[in-house]
Amino acid sequence: MAQALRAGRLVMLPTETVYGLAADGADAHAVAAIYAAKGRPSFNPLIAHVADLAAAERVAVLDDRARTLAAQFWPGPLTLVAPIRDAGAVCDLARAGLDTVAIRVPSHPAARAVLAAFGGAVVAPSANRSGRPSPTTWADAMEETGFAIAASLDGGACAIGLESTVLGLIDQPRLLRPGAVTRPQIEALIGPLAEAGDDARRSPGRLARHYSPNAPVRLEAEGPREGEAFLGFGPDVPATPWNLSPAGDAAEAAANLFSYLRAADRTEPSAIAVAPIPEAGLGEAINDRLRRAAGFVG
Ligand code: TXA
Ligand code: MG
Repeated sequence: MAQALRAGRLVMLPTETVYGLAADGADAHAVAAIYAAKGRPSFNPLIAHVADLAAAERVAVLDDRARTLAAQFWPGPLTLVAPIRDAGAVCDLARAGLDTVAIRVPSHPAARAVLAAFGGAVVAPSANRSGRPSPTTWADAMEETGFAIAASLDGGACAIGLESTVLGLIDQPRLLRPGAVTRPQIEALIGPLAEAGDDARRSPGRLARHYSPNAPVRLEAEGPREGEAFLGFGPDVPATPWNLSPAGDAAEAAANLFSYLRAADRTEPSAIAVAPIPEAGLGEAINDRLRRAAGFVG
């Protein structure tokens, strides 16, 4: 894997959040191939993945807030946006020309092994074509971008199932994308977060329509209408193959969300109806993805 990355090839890697389509962040040709394979707009920058905090400090300028959060949550599903230190390690194209970089240390053992062997910064967006749900299994990832890769690692189903939390630390701390590291967990360590808004300059990836299956998505549904597939939540909903969590557990629902959206979509329903999910804990991140899947800005 590390050798393929050094040779400028694309590889597919499991992480604890979702599968990633990975390349050497320093190699502009390889990075261009990622944008092409995903059909991703080049104004949307990529996340740099590194093996540990020391490697992160070589790439980005981390302040006390970043170090406090890193000590608590790395390795794990938290991405920090900080000023770029080594613009060669994560090339201009990977940063969409910004003077900041999004950086994280994933916890999946297979990803960690590749990053340790590679040594540098590996950029890896979710391994889906732009606008589609992120893949959380090897098979789903292969279906999306398998054609583009030199090698892949099957790391099983992703334990978290939603992309990492993205936290901007440029001026005031801002939650740019909710995820498994939650707002209250972050605020407990560094104080209140400012409103992110949907400012495209601050968080270029927060497009209104994203994570979308082919079928339209209908939210806050009590049950399926004629022709619809239904994703339930909790014990008191109509039975279908896709109850996100019969026990009403948000972490379980997050882990199932994208694979159930994909499975329901394969039955070619008139729409995918989804039961209400409470906002608490991981619910904020789940509802963010669902609103975007349905085409609404969160
Ligand atoms: O869990 C994850 O983060 C996965 C796995 C593979 O690590 N990766 C992932 O990458 O979700 P991607 O490319 O799908 O999402 C990256 C997000 C986008 O919303 C992008 O706009 C934002 O991070 N981002 C990247 N660099 C940024 C920057 N300099 N400033 C603000 N937002 C940035
Ligand atoms: Mg993505």
